[in-house]
Amino acid sequence: MSIETLVHELRKIQADSTVFYQRLRQYHWNVRGRRFLALHSKFEELYESWAEIIDEVAEAVVILGETPLTTLRAVLHEASLEEDEEVPAAEEMIRRTAADLAVLVARFNEVAAEAGDGRAANLLEGIRDEQQKELWMLRAMLAVRPHLVQGEGP
Ligand SMILES: [Fe+2]
Repeated sequence: MSIETLVHELRKIQADSTVFYQRLRQYHWNVRGRRFLALHSKFEELYESWAEIIDEVAEAVVILGETPLTTLRAVLHEASLEEDEEVPAAEEMIRRTAADLAVLVARFNEVAAEAGDGRAANLLEGIRDEQQKELWMLRAMLAVRPHLVQGEGP
């Protein structure tokens, strides 16, 4: 893709990553239930990773000679992921996080494949690989364990 298109795609990734980051923060704050400690920590670990990812993606735009998104207004305008204004149950938080992460991983993969710029492609592939592992772990948390007594779910 052209540099212009790559910059556009990176800004969109920056926007979606920022919306996802805020979702992780709100889940970190609001999660409740028996899995509180594990999930509170997991969401924190994830939003710390995503703060770094946002920084790397924004700086990739700067390295290409352009300006990344600078306001939350621009972020919301460019984002395709939705903010979460609800406080869902813990299990649903994991499900929604995994769904958004799957969208992001697919986007990183697509843009990396078409980037036509080695540095940007390497960056996006590295994030994709790392976050695919997170996606696996989230999905593993969602798996129904058949030995559980009914009503004893997560
Ligand atoms: Fe905290």
